[in-house]
Amino acid sequence: MAVAELNSAFTKTHLHSSQLSFLSRSVPKHQHCDFPTLHRTQQRARISCSVTQNQVQAPAVQIQEPKSKSDCYGVFCLTYDLKAEEETKSWKKLINIAVSGAAGMISNHLLFKLASGEVFGPDQPIALKLLGSERSLQALEGVAMELEDSLFPLLREVSIGIDPYEVFQDAEWALLIGAKPRGPGMERADLLDINGQIFAEQGRALNAVASRNVKVIVVGNPCNTNALICMKNAPNIPAKNFHALTRLDENRAKCQLALKAGVFYDKVSNVTIWGNHSTTQVPDFLNAKIDGMPVIDVIKDRKWLEEEFTEKVQKRGGVLIQKWGRSSAASTAVSIVDAIRALITPTPKGDWFSTGVYTDGNPYGIAEGIVFSMPCRSNGDGDYVLVKDVIFDDYLRNRIAKTEAELLAEKRCVAHLTGEGIAVCDLPGDTMLPGEM
Ligand code: LMR
Repeated sequence: MAVAELNSAFTKTHLHSSQLSFLSRSVPKHQHCDFPTLHRTQQRARISCSVTQNQVQAPAVQIQEPKSKSDCYGVFCLTYDLKAEEETKSWKKLINIAVSGAAGMISNHLLFKLASGEVFGPDQPIALKLLGSERSLQALEGVAMELEDSLFPLLREVSIGIDPYEVFQDAEWALLIGAKPRGPGMERADLLDINGQIFAEQGRALNAVASRNVKVIVVGNPCNTNALICMKNAPNIPAKNFHALTRLDENRAKCQLALKAGVFYDKVSNVTIWGNHSTTQVPDFLNAKIDGMPVIDVIKDRKWLEEEFTEKVQKRGGVLIQKWGRSSAASTAVSIVDAIRALITPTPKGDWFSTGVYTDGNPYGIAEGIVFSMPCRSNGDGDYVLVKDVIFDDYLRNRIAKTEAELLAEKRCVAHLTGEGIAVCDLPGDTMLPGEM
């Protein structure tokens, strides 16, 4: 017997051809349906119907237009039949992946990678929980329709909504992409505040409804401080589960080193991005390797490494915006995939990866209480440890101190959002996102 669970939110605007055809049929006698009492504000009320296999139908009820719809979308409201499930016994247990900013450009690349199995593997069925805004809800439906039409075997459930308390329910991964870009004339302090409010709310929602071990990757800028705000508002989730995405910067650094050394980028390893995902970030060439050799022994041009290389990586996002007229999207999505895979697959022997994580207990002498990109290794269980055997010189220490000071200033500026008192905004004048030039 198959079970169809249909959301109370089935209304004309949320339907397309396949569902409309269900609505025109009547409910057969052998089918038992429970219609729970529906209150006007009870958006999550569900209608559960038990039907015989291949007789999945929707009830002919019209219910008030909902503000959000996050239980299921379209074809994903139909529970896959048990026969098919028999054939997939070797599959792992379904995992819930929440994505915010789901109607945006980055997500448009990312969601199809997630659904294809490229990220979590060919035996890992997934549920996608897509968070949008009131403004993007229609676009979000377009995304869900494209996911339907792609017939991904591993994609078992899709839900869309605008309430993080609904969408983040039981999330095991939360990929927080949605954030406001800095508009013309907007002070960086204003951006920190506006986006900080979003991430504070999402942190509270994760704290209330997500899996207790949810892994959170914050992409929306300024991602380090947004990750800190999110974490501080989610005290029941381990602090080390919160990441700020700096993998894109690591990938950019690898590409530039490969270009300069005249090798393909798979020869470049051990690249750390230290600090903030901003123009103060420090791409570390001192510990990086090319073909197993220290970069400084391969590229013997220290001036290029300290100046041109460093600045290229720091400002790559801005150059891209100038070319594209918008922020990088495809390469950001790829780097989110890399960031997830770095946590769920064992790190190759001797190598490491960069991710922005909470500094408490770090072995490098970096100030505690901030989210700072550092070198990490994972045994593939979703967790990580900080790498101890890295070396520092005066140049590296000085650069790290600058990005550290910037993050401490950002933290003071959002104290009202982290529960640490009154905000004092004394941001350094040159504090910029990679996209601001
Ligand atoms: C990037 O690094 O490409 C983005 O973070 C740039 C931006 O400011 O949106």
